[in-house]
Amino acid sequence: MKSLKVYVLGFFVVICVLINVVTYKVEGQSGPTEAPAAFDNQTNGLVPQATFEADRDTFAEQEFIADGLGPVYNAQSCGECHQNPVTGAISQITELRAGRFDGVNFTEAAGGSLINDRAIDPSIQERVADSNNVRTFRSSLNVLGDGFVEAISDNTLIAISQQQPIQSIGLIRGEVIRVPVLEANNALRVARFGWKNQHASLISFAADAYLNEMGITSPLQPTENTSNGNSIAAFDTVADPEDDGDDIIAFARFMRASKVPPRDTQLAATADARAGSQIFDQIGCAICHVRNITTAPVGTVINAGQFTVPAALGNKVIHPFSDFLLHDVGTGDGIVQNGGPSTRNKLRTPPLWGVRSRSRLMHDGEALTFNDTILRHRGEATAVTLLYLTLSSTQKNQLSTFLRSL
Ligand code: HEC
Ligand code: HEC
Repeated sequence: MKSLKVYVLGFFVVICVLINVVTYKVEGQSGPTEAPAAFDNQTNGLVPQATFEADRDTFAEQEFIADGLGPVYNAQSCGECHQNPVTGAISQITELRAGRFDGVNFTEAAGGSLINDRAIDPSIQERVADSNNVRTFRSSLNVLGDGFVEAISDNTLIAISQQQPIQSIGLIRGEVIRVPVLEANNALRVARFGWKNQHASLISFAADAYLNEMGITSPLQPTENTSNGNSIAAFDTVADPEDDGDDIIAFARFMRASKVPPRDTQLAATADARAGSQIFDQIGCAICHVRNITTAPVGTVINAGQFTVPAALGNKVIHPFSDFLLHDVGTGDGIVQNGGPSTRNKLRTPPLWGVRSRSRLMHDGEALTFNDTILRHRGEATAVTLLYLTLSSTQKNQLSTFLRSL
């Protein structure tokens, strides 16, 4: 009898150990892991390094008139504006948008709110019309790690919005908007890219940028822009679409295969940066500049059916310091894009990863220090800004040190 008891107990112990091992293994396989972070020009594993480098070259490649550049455009390559400190990151380059607000309605400038800064012939140079009383600059954004942002499920962003307070600390609930996914016949998806959250997919953004930044048409954006509403056909010598779609795919694949911007780990480890990090949470910065987001599980179908989250991008923890939602923090640029009239004065919370490589801050690049940037936050951020004002100068410096570690 005694030996039977021992056997039963022994069996039980073995089963428990096995269950633990199995559970541990399953967790080990399925638990979220950190997204790779570095400014090192290396693939995140989505594609081999050689493919990544070829796509990066396409992203940084200069285009000329014979390739379809223009007739109106902003620059000759994606890399010209997405470059600091490595291809795909930010730059100081801004672009110009304009329109008219009559007190009730916003109307885009003739031919669209984007006023292209360059043209292949001076006679078609675009400029702001006197009647356009809304004028704004927009800074270039980082695209590194954007594959992880694309891989966040709609429901995750909706849940972030729902967790944001609407009363105790003021109205801070970010607005979710749904925008057309061009490669899915304009089916809608929760927006996350651009200062106005004008896009939800990287293929869509790439096609938009190729046309609007460089004047190069593609199957998803087959129609040339105008010059302030006037046809530029007389100057357009290359048949549309000027790109057969391959470049768009290469741009999107480069962005999807890039690593997220890394922290300055040395600075982040200092006592000042760690204190600043706590202050960032305590006074409410992190309500909008969200620290941790987990991407959708591997195999999730996103972009309205057009993309399946691959192993390199799925179930990854990222630290974007953004909720990817629209807020009115009192700096509104007055331009309406995909979000409709209610978003006229709203901007997407900019991700703060990599913000240490930015010299001119906020959408217009007009805030030059972190202190000035925080003081410009009003509207939905008023309660947080008022808390910032109660900090000692030591604490303000600690917060600034933390921001310099991002
Ligand atoms: C003249 C400068 C310029 C060029 C050239 C340019 N971009 Fe951009 N890019 C910007 C600016 C400015 C923004 C922010 C625009 C906005 O939201 O209004 C931006 C935003 C983006 C975003 C959104 C990033 C995010 O996380 O929200 C993507 C993606 C992007 N660009 C890809 C591209 C690609 C691909 C090309 C080449 C086809 C390109 N860009 C060419 C200036 C440029
Ligand atoms: C209600 C949401 C909200 C809160 C709270 C908030 N921010 Fe922001 N933050 C934004 C938005 C939206 C912008 C973009 C505004 C613009 O460009 O005009 C922004 C811009 C910034 C930028 C500029 C980033 C860039 O790339 O140019 C920094 C830095 C920043 N915030 C830091 C902070 C800090 C620090 C706090 C806390 C003191 C804070 N924010 C609180 C929404 C918020």
